[in-house]
Amino acid sequence: MVAVDGPSGSGKSSVCRAAADRLRTAYLDTGAMYRAATWSCLQAGVDLTDGAAVAAHVRSVPLVMGTDPHAATTAVGDVDVTEAVRSAEVTAAVSAVASVPAVRADLVLRQRALIDAACAVPAPGRRPGVVVEGRDITTVVAPQAPVRVLLTAREDVRLARRARQDLGSADSGAVAAVRDAVVQRDLVDSRTTDFLVAADGVVTLDSSDLDFEGTVVALLGIVEHVA
Ligand code: C5P
Repeated sequence: MVAVDGPSGSGKSSVCRAAADRLRTAYLDTGAMYRAATWSCLQAGVDLTDGAAVAAHVRSVPLVMGTDPHAATTAVGDVDVTEAVRSAEVTAAVSAVASVPAVRADLVLRQRALIDAACAVPAPGRRPGVVVEGRDITTVVAPQAPVRVLLTAREDVRLARRARQDLGSADSGAVAAVRDAVVQRDLVDSRTTDFLVAADGVVTLDSSDLDFEGTVVALLGIVEHVA
């Protein structure tokens, strides 16, 4: 199992999905689980400042995660929310939901169950194992993972990547438009989960000066070194 944490714009999702594909394991995007829980709270009109109400609602949300790296889908029951959870509205609200301790306890248990399943019963054509990405995977969800990596990059690089990904440009206007969704969200999230500094035994992979392929190769190199 490969556990990867990191801030937004570090390239975690695309790099981890590609690494899982090349390792022929499953892939789990835990951020998508917090996003889907948030999407459901917004749909139901739950007051996001009421932690108990948020936790009670999230407990009833049937999250269905596709863990095939080629089909990393997110569903709530039979509603596919893979695209919907990427909306600006969900992005702006997700940190509040993720900061509720009872929500975290609930989702951590579900994440561990998905990890156990991927390690015990791989999908056809896949090897046992999973590449899991998030903010607390190396520290809380799976601190026993044989491979633990903090994938990071300089702030200017992360802002440019997110602007290019979301707005198709990394000019100063585009960078300003994504700043809150990157810097502010990381600041708020880092009060809940400590993903800005590598925990003991966690390898830091700085992708600032690497392209996508270089980052995937570097991550696979860390996996090989440990295996
Ligand atoms: O990775 P992504 O940006 O999709 O994550 C969305 C949000 O989910 C983060 O901003 C954070 O609030 C929350 N999250 C978390 N713990 C994780 C993964 C994500 O708190 N393991």
